[in-house]
Amino acid sequence: MLKLLKALRYRGTHFMWIETRDGLSCEAKFSSGKSILEAALTSGIEIPNSCGGMGTCGTCRIEFIEGGDDVDPPNEIELETAREKNFKKSERLACQIVAIPGCRVRVL
Ligand code: FES
Repeated sequence: MLKLLKALRYRGTHFMWIETRDGLSCEAKFSSGKSILEAALTSGIEIPNSCGGMGTCGTCRIEFIEGGDDVDPPNEIELETAREKNFKKSERLACQIVAIPGCRVRVL
């Protein structure tokens, strides 16, 4: 139910910012319900990924600079991968997080 309410709140086309590994701050355009990885890739911003967004490779690691409190907590897939890969608590998987307008992340 919470996801449905969030989806309705964030309908339409939105923007977020992604700091790349090169230190560039890039604007990513996305539509409601897209993951941060999808937002990045459709905007031409590279975030490493090798499992097709399934949440298992752990290569799409990011951390939030802004907006991290507004996204859903890690799901079971993300928790399992984070455990296997020994992620820091602040590290998240871009493919498992629904992007929210105005958030800012850093690619790790
Ligand atoms: S793309 Fe593989 S874990 Fe995100």
